[in-house]
Amino acid sequence: MLNKRELDDKKLFDDIAINYVKKDLTTYCRVARKLRLVQSLKGIKQPIKKILEVGCGAGFSVDYLKGKFINYTGVDYSEKLIKYAKKHNSYTGVKFECLNVNDFNPEIKFDIVLMIGVLHHMPEPEKVIKSLSKILTQDGIIIVNEPQAGNPLIGLLRKIRKKIDNNYSTDQVEFTEDEIHSMFKKCGHETKTFAQGVISTPLAESRILPAFIGIPLAWIAVVVDPILEKLLSILSFKKLTWNIVVHARPKQ
Ligand SMILES: C[S@@+](CC[C@H](N)C(=O)[O-])C[C@H]1O[C@@H](n2cnc3c(N)ncnc32)[C@H](O)[C@@H]1O
Repeated sequence: MLNKRELDDKKLFDDIAINYVKKDLTTYCRVARKLRLVQSLKGIKQPIKKILEVGCGAGFSVDYLKGKFINYTGVDYSEKLIKYAKKHNSYTGVKFECLNVNDFNPEIKFDIVLMIGVLHHMPEPEKVIKSLSKILTQDGIIIVNEPQAGNPLIGLLRKIRKKIDNNYSTDQVEFTEDEIHSMFKKCGHETKTFAQGVISTPLAESRILPAFIGIPLAWIAVVVDPILEKLLSILSFKKLTWNIVVHARPKQ
């Protein structure tokens, strides 16, 4: 059962599915999106035995993480995105299911539960974190990559995008790092966070640049972003990056 906000969100992703998929088919977006994913899994032992991706969209993580997992399950409530995922990103050891994560009742447990840009679409994120905690293996980790609040320039750009981009959900919010920490703490998790995305995030999210500018910029981002992220963290300016990555483990 979906509530009103979930129904609206699901409809949005079904409506924009064709355009959404184009991001992962555009070379420079792909480079930036793969970087975001790989950076989110920084420090995680690979190949991952069993990974669950909640809000997997059209399933391109399977492509970006080739060789880094053994079993992958992707869950999303957008029928159109899952239809695409099943058709184009299904391989041995890969499974996609079209459902609301709140109705997900798997028979197996997962070493990693991954959510890239998903938690802030959920009306009751804590409820989701609590139920996902129950399907983790003993050393399992929930990994989220979330847009973070705190940088006024990024906040303004997001506001503008909500006004001019029909493909951008106006319901979505951004959490501060502290809000994310306390959300996971309330759910009984210990967290480790790090900053992610300086040049790469706008490249991952929009397709407005011509390829001859976008492609070299994306490769520059692959080299420069990790350095900038580290530098900003050392200087206590973590919130100047677009995203925050959280590795959360239930306290034993
Ligand atoms: C911003 S998109 C991110 C998609 C993908 N992770 C990516 O990085 O491109 C959010 C995705 O989460 C899905 N989603 C949001 N809430 C969900 C829920 N409760 N159950 C299943 N899927 C959900 C949406 O359908 C959408 O595909």
